[in-house]
Amino acid sequence: RLLIIDFGSQVTQLIARRLRELNVYCEIHPYQNVTDTFLRDFAPQAIIFSGGPDSVTREGSPRPPRAAYELGVPVLGICYGQQVMMQDLGGLVEAGQSHTAEFGRAYVTPTEKSLSILEGWFTEGREQVWMSHGDHVSRLAPGFEVFGTSPGAPFAITADLSRNFYAVQFHPEVHHTPNGAKLYENFIRLAGFTGDWTMAGYRQQAIEQIRAQVGKSHVICGLSGGVDSSVTAILLHEAIGDQLTCVFVDHGLLRLGEAEQVVAMFRDNYNIKLIAADESDLFLGALEGVSDPEVKRKTIGRLFIDVFQKYANEIEDAEFLAQGTLYPDVIESVSFSGGPSVTIKSHHNVGGLPEKMGLKLVEPLRELFKDEVRALGRELGLPESFIGRHPFPGPGLAIRCPGEITREKLEILRKADAVYIDQIRKHGLYDEIWQAFVAILPVKTVGVMGDGRTYDYACALRAVTSVDGMTADYYPFTHEFLGETATRIINEVKGINRVTYDITSKPPGTIEWE
Ligand code: XMP
Repeated sequence: RLLIIDFGSQVTQLIARRLRELNVYCEIHPYQNVTDTFLRDFAPQAIIFSGGPDSVTREGSPRPPRAAYELGVPVLGICYGQQVMMQDLGGLVEAGQSHTAEFGRAYVTPTEKSLSILEGWFTEGREQVWMSHGDHVSRLAPGFEVFGTSPGAPFAITADLSRNFYAVQFHPEVHHTPNGAKLYENFIRLAGFTGDWTMAGYRQQAIEQIRAQVGKSHVICGLSGGVDSSVTAILLHEAIGDQLTCVFVDHGLLRLGEAEQVVAMFRDNYNIKLIAADESDLFLGALEGVSDPEVKRKTIGRLFIDVFQKYANEIEDAEFLAQGTLYPDVIESVSFSGGPSVTIKSHHNVGGLPEKMGLKLVEPLRELFKDEVRALGRELGLPESFIGRHPFPGPGLAIRCPGEITREKLEILRKADAVYIDQIRKHGLYDEIWQAFVAILPVKTVGVMGDGRTYDYACALRAVTSVDGMTADYYPFTHEFLGETATRIINEVKGINRVTYDITSKPPGTIEWE
């Protein structure tokens, strides 16, 4: 196994992601915990020093233990990790000056000498990399040579071949170093990894970590039926069995049959202790007469926390709250403020609850990206119908029902949505689409059916493609598909007599109607 010593970079988890993609087992440990003894017990096959925000020129700045250099295993230092290595081994690092600091894209060119970790890396005689450093190495440690330079970093790629120490100034793990994975691949090959580690291994590792963290305490987990909370719950259940209780709140704004499906899935297939709370009267009562989107959201968010807390209080000696926080949420919450993601979190992840209730957090998906969570879900036997589900917003159908929400409208909306999704599935389009749903419009229109006049609601179909929900394009259905779907909805759903297709992209629109 490989050890990543974390010096506090915001992208340390990305190193782990790159290694997982190469099927290598790794663990990240904060530098404070990595003592000589720890390291010798851990017995890594290779070590990576992450980047970090500190300056090695500062007295008392983070350091790896001496053993890291004495175990005789390959070591790779990245950014701060490079500077630490240089200083520890007798080189010199100088604090930032504006002309030597580099932030952003840079190009590294090779020197005369070839280096195994660079094999197949320089594609056009130079390679784009991502730099983010104020300090820089100004004198190499004895034994080191230079293998790549950039205008701002004469020691961009360095290595001591006799000791298998490698150190780079840039971040090969980020997207902006397009070929960075190659460096990691070369590094792990030379460290002797065969790349035979899989999601099954991750599952085992996560289970052990949960057990170690939770001990004999009880854990509460909010279930939404989405893939993140589902995988979190199943993983926890595997780890601690009956020490887990899930709470599923039905706010009366779910899709057709959704509450039953979620409850059945967890009770029947997994035998997970589950409190299914039907609180639809409470939510729909509070939303009566409310048409402002923000008031809707805030009302739902507030009630959700109250209700969750009420049920959670019934669970004796609960000490932990489990959340399906993913790695992008972790990055986002440190690097951005404002924006839609903040709203998403406060609904989806029951924000603020842990402090309020004096609970500690368990977040077993914290290191994973969405596609990895799906892979883990498959590994845990979660049915494909749950794994590939389109995202569904916390406020549910409330924000797909512009204007006042009534039970009648919700009923109509549920049926229309079910027909639409059925159409999409039948045509094999579900997995090509990021999200698809119907919105019921606060307007009635006149129509004619048979010999009679109708005066019913109009609805809008929405379907978008997207990578992350931040931007989106409308999905280009064929006219035949749209025509057939409109006919089905009008024939099968009483209460709708007109169907429109929303062709707005995001921006300027948003995906949801409110
Ligand atoms: P918008 O409408 O902002 O939506 O383009 C982007 C993505 O976020 C989802 N969404 C929400 N998810 N709570 C959630 O859990 C919310 O309040 C919320 N609002 C929007 C939306 O479904 C889409 O996937």
